[in-house]
Amino acid sequence: MLSVAQYREAFLDYLNKKVVTKEPVNLYEPITYILNLGGKRLRPVLVLMSAEIFDAPYTKALDAALAIEVFHNFSLVHDDIMDDAPLRRGKSTVHEKWDLNTGILSGDAMLINAYQLFENYEGPVFKELARLFTRTAIQVCEGQQYDVDFESRDDVTIDDYLKMIEYKTAVLVGASLQMGAIIAETTPQCKTAVYEYGRLLGIAFQLQDDYLDAFGDPETFGKQPGGDIIENKKTFLYLKALENAGSAEASQLEHLYSIDPTENSGKIEAVKSIFESSGAASLARQEIEKYTQLAFDVLDKIDLPAPKKELLRKFGSSLMERQV
Ligand code: IPE
Ligand code: IPE
Ligand code: MG
Ligand code: MG
Ligand code: MG
Repeated sequence: MLSVAQYREAFLDYLNKKVVTKEPVNLYEPITYILNLGGKRLRPVLVLMSAEIFDAPYTKALDAALAIEVFHNFSLVHDDIMDDAPLRRGKSTVHEKWDLNTGILSGDAMLINAYQLFENYEGPVFKELARLFTRTAIQVCEGQQYDVDFESRDDVTIDDYLKMIEYKTAVLVGASLQMGAIIAETTPQCKTAVYEYGRLLGIAFQLQDDYLDAFGDPETFGKQPGGDIIENKKTFLYLKALENAGSAEASQLEHLYSIDPTENSGKIEAVKSIFESSGAASLARQEIEKYTQLAFDVLDKIDLPAPKKELLRKFGSSLMERQV
């Protein structure tokens, strides 16, 4: 087994070898741009780590890891268009640096490239990977649509929100871990359990992302500060604040979510202050811990030697501490 940093290095070597700009440059340059912009590389590391945890060499999992990272970056290029986001990883988003059409088509090509990478697998492993990937990708689209629908709905519940983040984010984390398990041809029980670990961790991860969107350090987080507030996203913070605030504060929050921040420069700070005074901010931190703990409970039951479980657990706890 390697360390997380070593899996990341191995992955980056592979990415640099495989992802190159070719003709037509206007299609491929944005792809190399976004894929070289950094990022935590969490999902590909999980694919590689999972393969080795279930006793296959990580080298067998490099194509699946690259497919997952290319798909993730495709989803970000299109997500940034949908969220009207100017910044990604501290740099211009693709549609800002180029234009909307470039973001659409380069994104499409990345999605196709991701599928193509699975062609490097054969027989039942190929079939299982392709099925998992297709199911996951369509769920991500469903999650993304809910996310957008919720912006203009005023009847969103916490359960709706949790389902939405499960689809847009958590299933891909589960799928990353399951891909390693599929490549290692482990037991069906292990494949299911490791997916579940990733899914629960993924829910905690998106809760944390929403928390950092409001309260993180913009320097390290690399996205527009308060981007979710600007876009009126119905996050856990917003929904809990509405539920827990007094009626005056709740109406104030609803009002703030109905106005354009370019016409009211105080919108972000005012919303954040209600997130805190209502207790929603601290409830969000508790919810992140709750889902991380639920993930650990699943991990405890997986049939694996303790040191291997420890690697997965350490990875999970490090996510809770992240500032990026
Ligand atoms: C960003 O994912 C999108 C979410 C699902 C929150 P990451 O936080 O993994 O983004 P990078 O790849 O590290 O930039
Ligand atoms: C991203 O959700 C989920 C996908 C891209 C599928 P967000 O919209 O919250 O992600 P960020 O904050 O832009 O990274
Ligand atoms: Mg976004
Ligand atoms: Mg989004
Ligand atoms: Mg976000």
